[in-house]
Amino acid sequence: MERKNTYNIAVIPGDGTGPEVIREAIKALNTVAEKGGFQLRLVYFDLGGERYLRTGDVLPSGVLAELKTYDAILLGAIGHPEVKPGILEKGLLLELRFQLDQYINLRPVILYPGVETPLKNKGPEDIDFVVVRENTEGLYAGSGGFLRKGTPHEVAIQESVNTRLGVERCIRYAFEFCRHRNKRKKLTLCGKTNVLTYAFDLWERAFYEVAKEYPDIQTDYAHVDATCMWMVKNPEWFDVIVTDNMFGDIITDLGAMIQGGMGIAAGGNINPHGVSMFEPIGGSAPKYAGKNIINPLAAIAAGQMMLEHLGEERAAGRVEDAIRKVLLNDLKSLSAGQMGYSTGEVGDLVVQYISREV
Ligand code: IPM
Ligand code: MN
Repeated sequence: MERKNTYNIAVIPGDGTGPEVIREAIKALNTVAEKGGFQLRLVYFDLGGERYLRTGDVLPSGVLAELKTYDAILLGAIGHPEVKPGILEKGLLLELRFQLDQYINLRPVILYPGVETPLKNKGPEDIDFVVVRENTEGLYAGSGGFLRKGTPHEVAIQESVNTRLGVERCIRYAFEFCRHRNKRKKLTLCGKTNVLTYAFDLWERAFYEVAKEYPDIQTDYAHVDATCMWMVKNPEWFDVIVTDNMFGDIITDLGAMIQGGMGIAAGGNINPHGVSMFEPIGGSAPKYAGKNIINPLAAIAAGQMMLEHLGEERAAGRVEDAIRKVLLNDLKSLSAGQMGYSTGEVGDLVVQYISREV
């Protein structure tokens, strides 16, 4: 994106621990903006479980229209223990992704120095890859239905929707991203061509056709089950992985665990030509809500991704440096309640490192 003096940011703190971690992300973002000579005009949106329980609104059309006018969206978390599963997830989070056509879900998996991974004999040099997850199609598209619901002969069908356009734009983004990232220049397609012989046939054809335009990128293919195995056994094999919505959802939870946990995992829902939305991927963690013990680093890392997307790479780099310092020097653990610091104190440490940096 083109750099500006002022960025209009829609902030959706959301449910559970969302508001607590977003508060810390905003502290870091404001500090780095001041240093970088730009401003963030923040507008808060009351969306999520509380509003739904109060008013019955999930995502009013007027709000959706307004969100489309922002430079980016920062989201805390969606999910409320008193709301039936699916209502907020589908009605709000997935609806935003779909309606804003955020067709990429970008999820870096980086093990920072000082962070413990459950993988034996693996270190930061081994765990540094990015998952490009398709974010608008596949099993998430909502195609299917019931027949004879509630009877012994009930049928439930849930179909994976894969359009040539949707698949190709995701694959193209992944090739471009891999080139721009300029690390190992290897792009792995993660699929299941041995069983899902329609969906991943299309993916595979699109992948190798687009690959011809990127001779500088080494291509590779792995079935999703094998991808899980290799993420544990040989994570260093991966540079960029491109995959469909469902597989991307699953492998990025595994990714979050090998990078040290949900406390650090962030992602971006990206529409390269529209409004993108950045979020910590850990969810609303209701049992920790309001206790000031949840780790805010994933939300701060989401803020970093947002800055990168806005073209404020220097500022993004400053946030990343500060995250690295906190992880290396200060935190005892990434887990809620075991960091050695409160949520607010971790945010303060990040702010101090950003302020001290020249
Ligand atoms: C995620 C979440 C969502 C998803 C849920 C909450 C709908 O698990 O962002 O990975 O499945 O995409
Ligand atoms: Mn998920």
